[in-house]
Amino acid sequence: MSGPVRHELLAVLDFGSQYGQLIARRARELGVYAEILPPDTDVETLRRRGARAVILSGGPDSAHAQGARTVDLALYDSGLPVLGICYGAQRMAADLGGVSGPGEEGEFGPAVLTPAPGARDLGIGDGNLLIDLEPGATVWMSHSDRVEALPPGFVPLASTRGAPLAAFADPVRRLYGVQFHPEVGHTQGGRAVMARFLHDVAGFAGDWTMAAFAQEAVAAIRAQVGERGRAIAALSGGVDSSVAAALAARALGDRLTAIFVDHGLLRLGEADEVMAAMGALGVRVRRVDAAERFLAALEGVGDPERKRRIIGTLFVRVFEEEARRVAEEGAGFLVQGTLYPDVVESGAGRSQTIKTHHNVGGLPEDLGLELVEPLRLLFKDEVRALGRELGLPEAIVSRQPFPGPGLAVRIAGPVTAQGLEILRQADRVVREEIEAAGLAPSLFQYFAVLLAPVRAVGVMGDNRTYGMPVVVRAVASEDGMTADRARLPDDVLGRIATRLTNEVAGVGRVLYDLTTKPPGTIEWE
Ligand code: XMP
Repeated sequence: MSGPVRHELLAVLDFGSQYGQLIARRARELGVYAEILPPDTDVETLRRRGARAVILSGGPDSAHAQGARTVDLALYDSGLPVLGICYGAQRMAADLGGVSGPGEEGEFGPAVLTPAPGARDLGIGDGNLLIDLEPGATVWMSHSDRVEALPPGFVPLASTRGAPLAAFADPVRRLYGVQFHPEVGHTQGGRAVMARFLHDVAGFAGDWTMAAFAQEAVAAIRAQVGERGRAIAALSGGVDSSVAAALAARALGDRLTAIFVDHGLLRLGEADEVMAAMGALGVRVRRVDAAERFLAALEGVGDPERKRRIIGTLFVRVFEEEARRVAEEGAGFLVQGTLYPDVVESGAGRSQTIKTHHNVGGLPEDLGLELVEPLRLLFKDEVRALGRELGLPEAIVSRQPFPGPGLAVRIAGPVTAQGLEILRQADRVVREEIEAAGLAPSLFQYFAVLLAPVRAVGVMGDNRTYGMPVVVRAVASEDGMTADRARLPDDVLGRIATRLTNEVAGVGRVLYDLTTKPPGTIEWE
């Protein structure tokens, strides 16, 4: 398995919280390597994995209910510092002789935190993790149950209206509970609470940096592939596969062959950009120019789902043909850009159950390649940071999301060479104007869509025109699951419209998409 050799670990025991990943991310932002593990992971396993502290996450259970998820009770006397958050705090209280149960009413959203009498005089050594918080700080809550009575040895630190025991600690055993969510960005001082626990209490060195990760990952790839082994990397042009290939090339040099299937559906200049960036990093790339094959396979196909299926199937076939050749030349490994959220979603910390063929979409096992997944412990923003560390250009590292089927799902109706050419130019104009206006950082995606089957009448000079409409699509979003339409300034829209109709032959009208997601989707198909 590739990944860091060994790090001081923050174990996040996950009781099914919607914020489990967020806890790990926050810790990593503080330079502490965190992994999400099943809640009942025993103390011996935790120690073997290098755990220096434990966070118990929130979750939907009720601590005293039958079937509620539990921890290894030895944890509390193990000497490891433990911070329980929400259900984790209720679990801890219930396990140690206190009482947790339903409050009069739940608290969801902001709540005002009031220090317990005398708590402001307590230092970190007395258990006061809230030492940096102002009285009246707004914290984020999401609970029905709450802690009703503290176990022996615990002192109360703060309360809110719905949670009289909103924070508490046993400074001797270094056990801490907070009913609120310090990992959520809306909690004032949440980061400070996490930092106090991780740095002051647990004593993490905070040495989880991308430079250290890169070094360790390179060593791990070498160890897995061996002195003489050869590997293949699948390169799509996206951030994850580019970073995985760059990392593997650093480890293996020319024992790595990256295969870049150019389906001809990328944006203007993108394929060359990827080739240039890989070349600059010394990655050996076999570019398979399959544009003609894809166009032929898509001929006359207007249905979006059929387009997607055709592209997906052909992509795997073309990759496989090339991979087979490289494998016959002696490659035994396949490098994939699987990320941590994919690993976690397939079972908290049970790394054996990962979706192995996630990224190449069903590569047959008879290729007999062993997987190398150097990014399987990283979140997306960490992958971008790693890309920068490895020297990938910003244009690739900070790329907006781009669908696998590429421009094919941004052309309504059948895909043609002419349509692709028009859309590439139109997309370039939209991107240039939005970036020139400084709007890119506030947007999740911005691009052009070509309504190829539609025509509109126009006049240029003394001539009648009959061109295609281009739709400007720009959205703000956190994660692509929901999206708001961008509020593009009128002058930017005006410039885009003028340039599209003047510069891009074949464009007759310019439309602006006002649809949010839901009910629309971000892409048109
Ligand atoms: P929708 O259009 O469903 O898209 O709102 C949500 C996000 O996913 C991207 N997207 C894809 N990404 N393969 C991908 O890798 C695909 O087939 C695909 N379809 C949509 C889309 O760009 C947006 O970021």
